[in-house]
Amino acid sequence: MKTKQHDAIVLSSSGEKDAFAELMSLFNSSPLPDDEVLANLGLFLTSKNLSRLLFFYEIYRKITHTHGIIAEFGVRWGQTLSVMSALRGIFEPFNRHRKIVGFDTFEGFTGMSEKDGTLCECKDGSFSVSPDYENYLDEILSIQEALNPASHLKKYELVKGDAVITVPEYFKCHPETIVSLAIFDFDIYTPTKVALETIKPHLCKGSILVFDELSDDIFPGETLALGEVLGINNVRIQRFPMTSRISYIEIE
Ligand SMILES: C[S@@+](CC[C@H](N)C(=O)[O-])C[C@H]1O[C@@H](n2cnc3c(N)ncnc32)[C@H](O)[C@@H]1O
Repeated sequence: MKTKQHDAIVLSSSGEKDAFAELMSLFNSSPLPDDEVLANLGLFLTSKNLSRLLFFYEIYRKITHTHGIIAEFGVRWGQTLSVMSALRGIFEPFNRHRKIVGFDTFEGFTGMSEKDGTLCECKDGSFSVSPDYENYLDEILSIQEALNPASHLKKYELVKGDAVITVPEYFKCHPETIVSLAIFDFDIYTPTKVALETIKPHLCKGSILVFDELSDDIFPGETLALGEVLGINNVRIQRFPMTSRISYIEIE
């Protein structure tokens, strides 16, 4: 069930896993010339992986008429941040206020508690990345900006460390911040609760909160944190038909 490399619980059937392994092998042995690989990445996008990108496309369209930054709580390899940067380049390349800020330890889960249950079989350090990964991601995000207008203005930031400390610190240093979109993907209770409490005064009507694990028995902590900070009864938890796990709330 659990992949050895990255602690993720994989719910695919064995047939799906075999097909995925075959696709991976075709990717690794691709005959495409180097300068055509990036332009043809869609060759390898499965419906599951594509659905996540489509979800964020729909979410980005929603925030183009609201002001403020995009914050991701739980970055890992940074695909979502990179996609957000590309979407900013498409929809609002001159919006210098649409800063993209990512918070992560870049050393995996930190602060698991009994509220996170036992089903996920994770521990502190799960979902870690390779050493100094944040520097590699920084370079990618910098290139994403270089490929779009106004690239002389840096519009992203990676904040490394335990979110229980770094998120309150960031908002203390940047009290002017309005959060237009917050993406919650720490998976676990304690940092999610602290991040939610911290950004609450920085939300406005129309702000969007995305959650990756609501109502998920494998990672119950995210739902508990939302319930304690905003109250499940007080919010409309919405989804798009193309993704099963990820949901969003629009502040009303
Ligand atoms: C599921 S991954 C995020 C995946 C990412 N959002 C994506 O779209 O690929 C969860 C991340 O939360 C981070 N994390 C967990 N606890 C944390 C904490 N206390 N402070 C900062 N980051 C934390 C982990 O390091 C991990 O990278």
